[in-house]
Amino acid sequence: AANKTFTMIKPDAVQDNYIGGITQMIEEGGFRVVALKKTRLTPERAGKFYEVHKERPFYNDLVNYMSSGPIVAMILEKDNAVADFRKLIGATNPAQAEEGTIRKKYAKSVEANAVHGSDSDENAQIEGDFFFGEDERF
Ligand code: CMP
Repeated sequence: AANKTFTMIKPDAVQDNYIGGITQMIEEGGFRVVALKKTRLTPERAGKFYEVHKERPFYNDLVNYMSSGPIVAMILEKDNAVADFRKLIGATNPAQAEEGTIRKKYAKSVEANAVHGSDSDENAQIEGDFFFGEDERF
């Protein structure tokens, strides 16, 4: 699974009509879209997706925010996908994101930071499985 990662375009970026702009940066970054859907997380599902952050002070806000509107989920393919995608999206805090990154261009705040990217091969697998069946991957 070292050549796959998982991403979500978050509610603020979907609301602001950035699906196309962000997906273009992803494709131009050398990633192929293996699976893609627009959907909305219930608070329960958002809570489960971000369960690893349950003890963090920002957890409740994060769950509310991530269930506040539709998101776009994708599985992406590229050599060294997890690390290369984290480089493409930039730092979690957009104030620290480098020029040319997705968050530099589209993120508004640490929470509303436009996109999610998996932090390990193991989590890429878990997160992709959270949204997609085998018959939705090509
Ligand atoms: P993401 O990469 O999806 O993983 C966890 C998310 O929690 C992160 O992006 C942010 O949206 C959010 N997050 C991380 N740190 C903070 C923070 N200090 N305050 C608020 N939200 C945060």
